[in-house]
Amino acid sequence: MKSPVRKMFDGIASRYDFLNHFLSCYQDVLWRRFCCKRLKKMMGAELRDEMPGLLGKTPLSEMPRGLNKVRLLDLCGGTGDFANTFRKIFESGRKCACKCVSQNGASRVETSRDFVVDPAVIGDFSYGMLAEVKPKKIDAHAVQLDAMKMPFAERQFDVILNGFGMRNVPDARGALMESYRVLDEGGYLCVLEFFSPRNLFNKFFYKVLAPLFIPVMGAFFSGKRDAYEYLVNSIIRFLPVDQFCKMAEECGFEVRQVKMFDGGISFGVFLRKPGKA
Ligand SMILES: C[S@@+](CC[C@H](N)C(=O)[O-])C[C@H]1O[C@@H](n2cnc3c(N)ncnc32)[C@H](O)[C@@H]1O
Repeated sequence: MKSPVRKMFDGIASRYDFLNHFLSCYQDVLWRRFCCKRLKKMMGAELRDEMPGLLGKTPLSEMPRGLNKVRLLDLCGGTGDFANTFRKIFESGRKCACKCVSQNGASRVETSRDFVVDPAVIGDFSYGMLAEVKPKKIDAHAVQLDAMKMPFAERQFDVILNGFGMRNVPDARGALMESYRVLDEGGYLCVLEFFSPRNLFNKFFYKVLAPLFIPVMGAFFSGKRDAYEYLVNSIIRFLPVDQFCKMAEECGFEVRQVKMFDGGISFGVFLRKPGKA
């Protein structure tokens, strides 16, 4: 049977990106960007530490080939915005000064990339959301899956992103354990999420302001008021960030960093699967 949450995301898929940006005043774009940059910093530092004699000196783009390769899963990835941001940020690098001359004499400037990202896997249970990935021409495979029971063998990924998905799955602990299983040792899970409000400002925002304007705006632009009422209620019902971190630790993760955005409207939680130096 199709779950009501899946049906709801199928129903709003075509307006999802627009409303996401509009309702958050484009903050969602900045939050995703921040998370990817922070992940890159963390992983880059580890990569440099692995190279004896080159501590902190070698640019990522000059690392021996293969070491800087990333297998990415964008879980609850929806329309693929997080995976897209990740690729842009991880693959940015310095323009290499060298000109490569091909056999037919044509020359081109090579770009050396900081990391090389394999075609990403964007996993989501809503077919409607995944259908929005294609027009974006992201180098990725869209896979319909359940975050609590993924069709992957163990240790398949170096990074898992989960943007605003955790509070939608019926069992967050199950999704954390399943993410742990498919993540390689030393890999990162980055959860960007609206957690249950704790301080006065956030309680006022989510319990008084948001229920007034989010469903109205959602209804106006998508015709689906229920979906945007669900959005607000799902935030209030979800765990506070400290309880989520405790749960992640119980599942085996190390909590590397918790970054609060905009006074606690959302948080980026950086988790690492122990293993590898
Ligand atoms: C709020 S959207 C987030 C989309 C995207 N990650 C982003 O950053 O905008 C939440 C997504 O989680 C998906 N989702 C919810 N429960 C899921 C589950 N059990 N398994 C897989 N995907 C799920 C929904 O279909 C939806 O696309």
